[in-house]
Amino acid sequence: MDLMPEPQTVGADDALTQLADILAARGITPPTTHELNGYSPDEPGHPAYHRQQRINAALARWTTATPLRYQHATATDPRVIHWAADVVASPDNARSLLITGNTGTGKTHQAYGALKLIANHGPKSFQMIATTSADMYGSLRPSGAAGAAEHGLKKLCEIPLLLLDDLGSAKTSEWTEEITYRLINYRYNQCLPTIFTSNLPAKTSDGRDLTTTLGERIASRLAEMTTVVPMAGTDRRRAN
Ligand SMILES: Nc1ncnc2c1ncn2[C@@H]1O[C@H](COP(=O)(O)OP(=O)(O)OP(=O)(O)O)[C@@H](O)[C@H]1O
Ligand SMILES: [Mg+2]
Repeated sequence: MDLMPEPQTVGADDALTQLADILAARGITPPTTHELNGYSPDEPGHPAYHRQQRINAALARWTTATPLRYQHATATDPRVIHWAADVVASPDNARSLLITGNTGTGKTHQAYGALKLIANHGPKSFQMIATTSADMYGSLRPSGAAGAAEHGLKKLCEIPLLLLDDLGSAKTSEWTEEITYRLINYRYNQCLPTIFTSNLPAKTSDGRDLTTTLGERIASRLAEMTTVVPMAGTDRRRAN
């Protein structure tokens, strides 16, 4: 697990610029917006036109998958922006992100903002699911139609980009542990980028941490697959 120190946050408008700068430093640049081979950027045939189409489709998917409160979320934390750039550069095997911190410090905001940044780059494919862990357990309860829960879990396992919000905050049972283990183990094995958020720190000496709550086998996988971004600050909901 890489534990990243806290850098200065950037302004919301700078996030896209910072993402573009990180990608440019890695040789990934968007297509030119000049006329090319007789095609203007706003007509089919020009790469910039097709990129804009991909951006529109990705943002539409992001908007559908994002709750109303986070529709204006922007990733302003450079560590989160770096992660988004990693996913754009290597969508099939980027590391995962674990955003930790107290209630109201902005974890969910940064998570949705990161997914929006990825969408804004116009990836070849943008498939995401966002859920809280409590909602996930609720939707996978084995009480529904035969096979529905397995089908639901398979979707969460295989989706290229997953946001699992509030990990470790739902009531645990043997069943929730098994679901969490199967999901995380699958995504760990397949190196699929996932954003986890949690109120619990990764590990502490007093045991009030993800390792104790989720168990050693899940925590071990999270330790290897995630970059941890601890969010500091006070509860933004009580700021006024
Ligand atoms: N960088 C930001 N700019 C503007 N508003 C923000 C920012 N970060 C968070 N907020 C707002 O602050 C409130 C709390 O943020 P958020 O829900 O992301 O916190 P959280 O850390 O996920 O909390 P919890 O642990 O309770 O889930 C929300 O209304 C959110 O929209
Ligand atoms: Mg949250």
